[in-house]
Amino acid sequence: MTELLLRFIILAGLLFLSACVYQNEDDLYGKESLKGCDTLEVSYASDIRPLIDIHCIECHGTYPELGAASFTNHIQLSQYLDLNKKKFIESISHTGYSKLMPDNADKLPECEIRKMIHWIDAGYPNN
Ligand code: HEC
Repeated sequence: MTELLLRFIILAGLLFLSACVYQNEDDLYGKESLKGCDTLEVSYASDIRPLIDIHCIECHGTYPELGAASFTNHIQLSQYLDLNKKKFIESISHTGYSKLMPDNADKLPECEIRKMIHWIDAGYPNN
């Protein structure tokens, strides 16, 4: 009897686990957080700079961490993007061979990543 109960518990546990594993990241975060995500009106001043200030500036500031570029203002960021656009996009979207950013932290929310990429694709205006 106890063996049967034990088997049942193990089976239920496995089913529960596989249900979790089955959902991919896109289902869990991606589509959900893209509801109401406005990538049409992205501005440096009200979207990009605050994002950088929250997620990147501690290492990419005026005195950046060793090997990191400085992203404190529009001039610095656009100079970096002129040469490293692909790296920047790969880093924040976790695609390609560039380092995963933000370093030692979770990937940015999907909507924030889309906003940054959209702004970069639009020629990273100082708007
Ligand atoms: C905890 C510190 C830290 C944070 C936070 C951080 N970075 Fe970095 N980042 C670094 C360091 C250090 C490097 C230098 C490369 C290395 O790791 O040797 C770097 C390198 C990069 C590179 C170049 C990647 C490559 O492959 O050469 C990009 C692009 C970048 N960071 C973008 C960002 C962006 C955008 C954010 C915010 C969303 C961010 N980083 C947040 C520390 C950080």
